[in-house]
Order: sequence, then structure tokens, then C-alpha cells
Amino acid sequence: EVEQKTGTTSNNGNVTPLEARTVPSERALTIWRSADAVCFDVDCTITVNDGLDLLAEFMGVKEEVEALTNKAMDGTMSLTRSLEERLNLINCSPDDIRRFIKAYPPQSRLAPGIKELINALQKRGVAVYLISGGFRELLLPIAAHLGIPKDRVFANRMHWQWDDETGMPTKLGSDAKQQQVGFDTSEPTARNQGKPEAIARIRENNPYNTVVMIGDGITDLEAVQTSGGADLFIGSGVVVEREAVVAEAEWYVYDYKALVSALSRYKVAVLGSGAWACAAVRMIAQNTSQDDPEDEFDDDVRMWVHQGGELVDTINSTHENPAYFPGIPLGPNVIATGNLAEAVADADLLVFCAPHQYIRGICKQLMGKVKPGAAAISLTKGMRVTPEGPELISQIVRRTLGVDCSVLMGGNIAEDVGREQLSEAVIGYYNLEHAQRFKKLFRRPYFRVTLLPDPVGAELCGTLKNIVALGVGMVDGMGMGPNSKAAVIRQGLLEMRDFCQALYPSVRDDTFLECCGVGDLVATCIGGRHRRVAEAWTRSAIESAVAGEGNGAGRSWAELEKELLQGQKLQGVLTSNEVQQILRTRGWESKYPLFTTINRIVNGHLPPHLVVDYLEGAKADIAVDVEEDIVP
Ligand code: NAD
Ligand code: 13P
Ligand code: MG
Repeated sequence: EVEQKTGTTSNNGNVTPLEARTVPSERALTIWRSADAVCFDVDCTITVNDGLDLLAEFMGVKEEVEALTNKAMDGTMSLTRSLEERLNLINCSPDDIRRFIKAYPPQSRLAPGIKELINALQKRGVAVYLISGGFRELLLPIAAHLGIPKDRVFANRMHWQWDDETGMPTKLGSDAKQQQVGFDTSEPTARNQGKPEAIARIRENNPYNTVVMIGDGITDLEAVQTSGGADLFIGSGVVVEREAVVAEAEWYVYDYKALVSALSRYKVAVLGSGAWACAAVRMIAQNTSQDDPEDEFDDDVRMWVHQGGELVDTINSTHENPAYFPGIPLGPNVIATGNLAEAVADADLLVFCAPHQYIRGICKQLMGKVKPGAAAISLTKGMRVTPEGPELISQIVRRTLGVDCSVLMGGNIAEDVGREQLSEAVIGYYNLEHAQRFKKLFRRPYFRVTLLPDPVGAELCGTLKNIVALGVGMVDGMGMGPNSKAAVIRQGLLEMRDFCQALYPSVRDDTFLECCGVGDLVATCIGGRHRRVAEAWTRSAIESAVAGEGNGAGRSWAELEKELLQGQKLQGVLTSNEVQQILRTRGWESKYPLFTTINRIVNGHLPPHLVVDYLEGAKADIAVDVEEDIVP
């Protein structure tokens, strides 16, 4: 034992210390991280004991059988012969096996950390196989416990003698037809060199590029010593340490946690650095830096900052964004960059959170730079309207970059989320697996995330509520109270629903009662930027009307946006114009009297007080100029 731990002499006479091999080589790490399939030995790799030895003990022939097991593991007796001799000694019936499994259920036999390792692999979509020189009958309950399908279990099958009277299996078979042995020797696992043969079969039937074998024994090590076998063997000393295996393994571990922490992690990039992007990156950074063995995310989160330069340096040195999110730490693991391509390089998860009018430009710059297979999520509220019709932000991402794109929507005033006040969001998704991954990325004790299979409804709610919030700000600007605001909110919600379902009939009624519907609408109408700017705009419009100037003669939206939001963006005015373009071209203006009236007020065609008289506002026969520059 002492000698093993000091190291081994390789062909060129150099000693490789064992400690060096518990740290994986660059080659081993690359293979491990890109494995499509990982094959595990079972006895003394997955379980703390050898199944056949334990069965022998159960049947009262422990010592005799153990000696034969060790001979096979050390390579001093052929596997086939050792198996034959052991089965003959054990000589059990199917009923004995049933009693045995009851006495030793899978959970009582698992090696420490193996379940977490297998879970972590399966979560990443890596196929897990069991390849064992033991018996299928003993393995299937373990496979079921670990969530490994039966067709991924390679092992020997026992032969039974069938009772002529009952037609039931009784004792292990041992007649001439069965070659005097109690098992099927045609399975590759019945022989030495059986494991690489089993792997070759797995490769034949699956398009795997990279296969790894993990085990404690010499027969496991053979998996890499034969062509067509595994690309990497990882020796396990978690249960027992075997001299020959320690000497030859390219990577040797005493704790499965080492394998979990060496697995690849999803890299995250956030595109945007405004208020909401900062609140979002803060939650993400809290989640990715957790000390959790099952954590699937790379600690570092990259954040693209449009301004680049000095702001990037400030964020990286102070871990705060003083321009858009002052006083709230983002996390030391947030790495800002002004370079879009650098932000997304190697990223597996892309979080889009820039004002909607810039998303198309960002996507154009990203074409050909995004990792194939990456998944995106959009936090942006807004849409684009082209002569061909409307296009959602998530659709722009999907179309230009060819990646799946979910959306995260809810009543989420950025500063309140930054202060860790209870907030709710939904993830609207097409791909459930991606949505579940994003949920893990965002959820916090103060940020509740649920999944909603209505991505279009969720995204459109988030977009349209900005128009209603402008209306509520107008009501505030006129000094009117909660009853009038409630009336505008209620009508707004109805028009949101009708508009969504008119454009996309698949949008569900329930979505409007979710946090992305009524939740977001209420939050924005109480505390959002649109309400605030619209209130100031309305006051100014009323003052200028009193002074005898015409509608729209007060301060401009752009001026107030600059003054009140200091760099943050007001998207509702753009959105109102975009939505109105759709209403106008489809002849729907009278069906959406609140949206239409708000749009006419926003553009100075009607006085603000008509917001509470929207049926009148929508009737008014005004020749509204179609703005040419509203297609962002
Ligand atoms: P923001 O409104 O604060 O906008 C400022 C950001 O826009 C800055 O990062 C700035 O660098 C960037 N920007 C300015 N010019 C740009 C350009 N030409 N190209 C690219 N980026 C440019 O940003 P935000 O609050 O993070 O909002 C992003 C999205 O999230 C919006 O769609 C918004 O509606 C939505 N949202 C915001 C909140 C909130 O409370 N702020 C909450 C939920 C959703
Ligand atoms: P405002 O853009 O009106 O601030 O609303 C933010 C938001 O979308 C809250 O969910
Ligand atoms: Mg073993």
C-alpha cells in the first residue's frame, strides 16, 4: 500500500507520483468535459461492496467466493472461470435473489457521492451506462434507483433450470446444454476484455464521439487498452484501491466530488447593462457562485456594456454600475466587457436585456459568433413592426442567431429586485429543458420563478403593459385618483388580451392572470418609469395648454426621458407607435379605444384628459401622420 501511494515507474523510467495523477492532465480533463457517454463499473465502483460476494455471504459461502472474486480483480484468474466457480458455490434460486435484494436495497449499497455524480452527468445530457462483470438480476434495482434505463445496463445473465411441473425457474442451470455453468457466457461481460467489447457495441449503436470508463478493477482498465474501447479510463479508489489499477490509470480519484467539480459548466453572458440587466446579472452571479456540488454554471458571468471604456473599468474594479444601478453590488464574479464578441465567446446561455430598439442591431453583430447549441432568454419588453407584420424580440433572436429563445417576464422593477424584495417572474418557453436551466439561473429566495408554456403571451404582456402605464401616468398627471387609474388598468388588460389573441390565437387566457400579465401591469402602473415620465409629460402638456399653446406643445418625451431617466430608456412611446401601426393597417383602431387614445395623446393629436374618455378619443376623426421612423 505504501509503495503504491508513492507512485509508479513508467516505460521511460520516470516516476509519476500518484498525487500527480489525482490531478487530471489537460487531455483527461478535455475528454471528461466533452464525454457523450460515461460507463461505470458497478461492484466497488458504484456500490461499496461486490454484489456476488454479498450474495455469497447471504447464502453462507462468503470466504470461498471472496477469494475467487479477488483473483479475477487482480487478474490472476480468468473472469469466466472465476464467475463459473463462484456461481456454482452460491447455487441460489430466483427466490433467494428476491430475498437478497430486499435485505440489501440499492440505497444501502451506494458509494459516497456516486448518486450526485450520476445526477450531474445526466443533467448535462451525458448518457450513463453500467458495464459489469456481475449479474443483471442483481444490477437492475441499482440501475432503476439511479435512473439508468435497462437498455444501458450491460452485464451477465444467469441461466436457470426450469421446473417441468410448474414451468418456473428454480435453481441456477448447470446442465450440459448450458455448458455446465450457471450463466450466459455469450455476453461480452462474461470474459476478460469484455468491457471494451461492450463499449464497442455501445459505440456501434450510438453516435457518441467520446466515451469514458470509470472503475476500480483491472477489467475496467482494459476498456482503454483495446481499440474501439473508451477514450479515457478513470480509476476509482473510492471503495478499494487496487495496485495494478493505480499504476496504470491516467486519472485516479478517491472522491467522486473531484469528478463533479471537474465537469464542464454552462457559461453565461448577459447582453445589456441597464437597470434591469444589472438586477438580473446580480441574481445570476449569486446563483453561479454558490458552493453547490451540483451547480451547473461557470462562476464567472460576462456582461456586455454598450458604452465600453471607462464604465467597463469602473464595473470591473468596483463591481457596481454607477451609471444605471448605483449603490447595489453586482457581485465580484461579474466581468464587464465592451466587446460583444468577447462577451458571447463560448457562452452556452445568452441573456438578452437591452432596450428593444437595439436588439436587432445587437443580433446582427452577433451573427456567426454564437456557440452552436447555445440557448437564449430575452428579458426585453418590446416588439418590432415591419411592413410584413409584427416580430417579437425573442423571434428576432431565434431568426438571426438560430438559437432557442425563452422569455422571462413579470412585475420586476429593477431597483426593488436589487434590494431583494419579493418579486415574481415567469419563464415563457418552447424548450422545457432550457427553461428549467434558466429557472435555476434566476431563481432566488426573493425572486420566484415559474415556467409557463405560453412564451408569446408572456412576451406580449410585458410589451403592451408599457402602453397602459403611459395612460396611468397621464391620469396621475391630471391629478386624478385610484378609481380612474383602476378603470384605465382594467381596460388596458382587456385590450392587451384581445390584441395578443387576435395576433396569436394560441395565447392562453390564464397568462393574463399570471405575474407577467396583471402582475407586471400593476407593478409598472404603480412604480415604473413609464408612469413617472408620462405624469411629468402630462403636467407639462396641461401647463402649455393653459398658456394657450396647442396639444403636444409641452416638453417632449425625449427631453423628459433624458432628464428623468438619465440614460435609462423609455420604450412605451415607441411601442405605442409600433402597436398603433398594426391597429391602423388592420383597421382595428376602434376595437382598441384605450391603446388608440393613448397613442393619439402621446403624439399630441388629442389632449391628455381624453385618456379617461377613451371611447371618445378613439372616435375622433383625426388624420394621424404615420411616422416613418418607428421601425427600429
Ligand atoms: P435601460 O432602460 O436602463 O437602458 C439603458 C441601457 O441601454 C444601458 O445599458 C445602455 O448602455 C443601453 N443602450 C443605450 N444605447 C444603446 C445602444 N445604442 N445599443 C445598445 N444598448 C444601448 O435598460 P434596462 O432597465 O436594463 O431595460 C432593458 C429591458 O428590460 C427593457 O426592455 C425594459 O423594458 C426591460 N425591463 C426593465 C425593467 C426595469 O425596472 N428597468 C424591469 C423589467 C424589464
Ligand atoms: P418601467 O419600464 O415602466 O419602469 O417598467 C419596468 C418593468 O417592466 C417592470 O416589470
Ligand atoms: Mg468493480
